[in-house]
Amino acid sequence: MIIVIIGAQWGDEGKGKVVDLLADRFDIVSRYQGGHNAGHSVYVGDKAFVLRLLPSGIIHEGTTCVLGNGMVIDPRAFFEEVDQMTSQGISITPDRLKVSSRAHLITPYHQALDHTSEERLGNEKIGTTLRGIGPAYEDKAGRRGIRVADALVPEVLKARIERNLAEANKVIAVFGREPLRSDEIFEQMSALAERLRPFVCETSKFYADAKADNKKILLEGAQATLLDVDHGTYPFVTSSNPTAGGASVGSGIPPHHISGVLGIVRTYATRVGEGPFPTEMLEEEEDIANLIRERGNEFGSVTKRPRRCGWFDAVATRYAADLNGFDSIALTKIDVLDTMAELKVCVGYKIDGERVDTFPAVSQDLRQIEPIYESLEGWQSDTVGCTDIEKMPTNARKYIDFLSESIGVEIGLVSTGPERDQTIILKDSVMEGWFQ
Ligand code: GDP
Ligand code: IMO
Ligand code: MG
Repeated sequence: MIIVIIGAQWGDEGKGKVVDLLADRFDIVSRYQGGHNAGHSVYVGDKAFVLRLLPSGIIHEGTTCVLGNGMVIDPRAFFEEVDQMTSQGISITPDRLKVSSRAHLITPYHQALDHTSEERLGNEKIGTTLRGIGPAYEDKAGRRGIRVADALVPEVLKARIERNLAEANKVIAVFGREPLRSDEIFEQMSALAERLRPFVCETSKFYADAKADNKKILLEGAQATLLDVDHGTYPFVTSSNPTAGGASVGSGIPPHHISGVLGIVRTYATRVGEGPFPTEMLEEEEDIANLIRERGNEFGSVTKRPRRCGWFDAVATRYAADLNGFDSIALTKIDVLDTMAELKVCVGYKIDGERVDTFPAVSQDLRQIEPIYESLEGWQSDTVGCTDIEKMPTNARKYIDFLSESIGVEIGLVSTGPERDQTIILKDSVMEGWFQ
């Protein structure tokens, strides 16, 4: 069984919590795209983990984790995270952590170029995490990137760094920044590459063997559908393909071997960084946004930026369901809405006076659209930690049913808090089968 977990909105839907919940039913948990722009928080008892590059399954000692070929890996961030996890009592050995030899490296000049690229865009900036993600994918597509396998051959690493840095330094100089030194970068990267060597793996072969052994694999998407470089709110997106198709490319697992796709959906929407956000709570709803931000702790786990908050957008989420082919949805953060008297759900858009029920491609449209809302009554009672759907307030159940109907996909799991046991798994759902 191979299941893909995908964020349905603009990220931070609670993918980490759900992956952690499922992980001990799976043998392998893998990332297939992105890098340390991700921040997946997992709470286990009094321990808090923030996973950036490592799959959330790493917390489960019986699980093998993979960083797939579709990822961009900053080796400094990789070892910082490995050391952090080790200090939190997690044993990380090359036996249980594999890094694809085909993944691309993020180097210090990629990070510098992320800064200059944002500076160049001025008011049109993307609001990236400034981790060097975009420039590393640019190098990959431009066929000048440095793969993990290349970094293991010192002469190749040195030549690539020298060649690429000569170009990068020209851009860096235009922005009045200090040029970077290729000997320093080479020294740092080659030492890290040596440390990485025991983790390096031909991961597509590893998966083929795993499949032959009937191993269960969980593919953990980072970022989310509306941040996908092809399908998201371009250009305000990340530079990879978090959507379901990306899981196959970014891992080397044939698409028809994937058995199911789980969408992670939050009961409301958030966005970090710039870009269109049709249901954003603006000035007149600032109090509601502040309440949600506080109750939902909506601050970036990587950059600590306050997340922009908005109402649930059924048009955007239905689009995500169609694109990814969700078989089931895990609905997170119902408890955050406990105090609300009224809940609005966007069921359509109005563009130039016309009703539109599909998610348009042009980002300009998304800035100008007027959401069409339906209002639902809140439940104004405590659902934190509820583990039984029958015990949920009637209006909370109505809200859950309304979301499921408007997306057109079953909700198989409802999350009522950040902890593992603050979860309801719905009987007879597709999701329930994956928990067996
Ligand atoms: P991810 O990037 O999709 O993994 O999500 P993040 O970890 O960045 O953000 C989600 C945050 O919400 C984390 O702090 C989670 O611990 C927390 N969380 C997840 N599910 C729930 C829930 O049902 N209720 C509440 N209150 N918090 C949740
Ligand atoms: P997880 O996996 C939310 C956003 C950034 C920016 C855009 C491009 O925790 O859900 P990048 O650094 O990737 O070039 O930035 O994408 N972004 C995220 N937003 N959650 C994330 O990851 C994100 N990763 C990137 O804020 O708008
Ligand atoms: Mg996150």
